Amino acid sequence: MAIRSYISVDDFATEEFLQLFTHTAEIKKNLAMNRAAYLDKLCGILGGMMFYEPSTRTSGSFEKAVKRLGGQLYDFNIAASSVAKGESVLDTACMVAGGTEFLIVRHPQQGIGRQIANVINIPVINAGEGTGEHPTQALLDMYTIWERFNKTQVRIGLMGDLLHGRTCHSLIKLGARLGAHFFCIAPIALQMPKEYIAYAESLGCIVSAHETAEEVAGELDVLYITRLQKERLPQALRSQYEIEGSPYNVTPALLAHMPVESIVMHPLPRVDELSVECDTDPRAWYFKQAENGIYTRMALIQHLLSL
Ligand code: NCD
Repeated sequence: MAIRSYISVDDFATEEFLQLFTHTAEIKKNLAMNRAAYLDKLCGILGGMMFYEPSTRTSGSFEKAVKRLGGQLYDFNIAASSVAKGESVLDTACMVAGGTEFLIVRHPQQGIGRQIANVINIPVINAGEGTGEHPTQALLDMYTIWERFNKTQVRIGLMGDLLHGRTCHSLIKLGARLGAHFFCIAPIALQMPKEYIAYAESLGCIVSAHETAEEVAGELDVLYITRLQKERLPQALRSQYEIEGSPYNVTPALLAHMPVESIVMHPLPRVDELSVECDTDPRAWYFKQAENGIYTRMALIQHLLSL
């Protein structure tokens, strides 16, 4: 059977995502009743993980997912490795992947996941690639929307650094495939790259650009706020935002404009763009969203390994 990798949301058919959502819901329900329900699934299976960029949720939820499935994870320590001696990413990936059944990779270089998948013969999962895609985040984001609304044909406001935010890139692609429409709320300098808008529009998705959230807040099912990717900003913009702070701040005053049935999502980490005062609003779904990362990744790993 052909080896499947998940480098971009383009790698799965739309029906596969819907199957993954159903499977995730089943896993979540079963685990709530019995934490040991899936421990036999990855028995004897070892995954490799290499993160060249910092991570809390993605690495943590992959580790929790593998452990809930009864598998083991070799979490490669980049800082203490021969990477410091100049070993290439591809050579390192071959070493980390050796003797394992799947490999999870986060790296700043766009396109590296596909290159790795071409040289190793186990499934590769892209856990975030520079300013490109973050397809497992889009999976958990769309699952969360499906769980909340029981459908995916919703109106999503993407807000913040849409130029560099890889979670938004994968989300607009996957959302467009699943019938969502998008309001892209960002300063002009940080708007969604044209190629993602073109991709979404080619599927019949309606995408509009806005500079303020107030213009569209009343029409949103989902407000998806993201942080300013300071580490990826060109120097001039970085200096500007270091002085001014984030161009956006989601507060209870903004939530007051949003429908009572809507939700607020954030891939996290948050910095100053989402006020902690929003946390007690029943529409705050970001921590539930983050937890869903465990269950969606459990479903994803089983899917890639055909278990
Ligand atoms: C995001 C990422 O790494 O792209 N975090 C995550 O994986 N949940 C978002 C970010 O860093 O802003």
